Amino acid sequence: MKAQLENIYNSAKTDIENAKTINDLDGIRLKYLSRKGEFNSIKKGLKDLSDEEKRTVGALANQINEDLENRLKQKHDIFYTNELNEKLKKDRLDITLSGKRTPVGKIHPLTQTTNEIVTIFQNLGFSVAEPSLSPEVETEYYNFDMLNVPKDHPARDVQDTFYSKVASNVVLRSQTSGAQIHVMENKKPPIKVIAPGRVYRNENINARKNNFFHQIEGLYVDKDITFGDLKGVLNEFIRQYFGASRPTRFRSSFFPFTEPSAEVDVQCIMCQGKGCRTCSGTGWLEVLGCGMVDVNVLKGVGIDPDVYTGFAFGMGVERLAMLKYAIDDIRLFFNNDKRFLEQF
Ligand code: DAH
Repeated sequence: MKAQLENIYNSAKTDIENAKTINDLDGIRLKYLSRKGEFNSIKKGLKDLSDEEKRTVGALANQINEDLENRLKQKHDIFYTNELNEKLKKDRLDITLSGKRTPVGKIHPLTQTTNEIVTIFQNLGFSVAEPSLSPEVETEYYNFDMLNVPKDHPARDVQDTFYSKVASNVVLRSQTSGAQIHVMENKKPPIKVIAPGRVYRNENINARKNNFFHQIEGLYVDKDITFGDLKGVLNEFIRQYFGASRPTRFRSSFFPFTEPSAEVDVQCIMCQGKGCRTCSGTGWLEVLGCGMVDVNVLKGVGIDPDVYTGFAFGMGVERLAMLKYAIDDIRLFFNNDKRFLEQF
């Protein structure tokens, strides 16, 4: 039996030496070392031997088994490394080649600015007016009459406002303030809304003016609303939009639909108040108009001015974005130059 083992051992060694691939080695393991392999079938004869022989022959068998396993493993490792190197050589991958970039879309800077402003007011308790209460195609009635704008006001002039050629009294709205009227006609106080949207003016286009732009209108009507509430809300808005350290001032002004009226200035972001070209040497930049809703406007929509008061405000989105990001030409927002848009 010992001789049989030696024979198998020798022939297995030769086979291993002659093996060329991992596949060959697998075949050899199957032939000699598997449960049904030659080596095992001999080991089955062990049971017929004497105890003494069982021990020596068994030890020999184990030794041979272990040795063959080692040889197989050694060869396997060599083949494996070779095959891997071969593969690496063949499948060379040039990772320095530049990849294909998928273009990523962005939200337009004006939409980003609008969203930012809307969020600030939502956090102060304002909700956004339904679009149906804030139409871009308006009647003179909502755009002017109900806002207490006199019939001979220059803003009504065709040189400022786009009138429809087909329907009389129909205009492209020149301000979002008409939304105030729609909202007050449709809802009872307390009213606390903002209305963002596009407005149109018959302007000669230049770096500061376009013939359409965007505004955000605000309206708060309730019992006991005072100018103090107006200042509190708008100061907080400016604090959040421009930062806490930006000084503001309320300057007395006039709008037909508010009384008293004011404009809000922030300290010039270019020169920090020293006076420069951007602020025309004043050190201040105007950012919005506001005031207490005029008694005539409240009466017009059937709200009793002895019970309710309110404040309103309106601001230009382009202007606010230009001031915050130091953009010096309004047309950049509209000619869709990717080099500009990608910066936001
Ligand atoms: N509608 C005005 C404009 O376009 C802005 C404005 C001023 C809106 C005062 C208001 C306000 O609501 O109270 O210039």
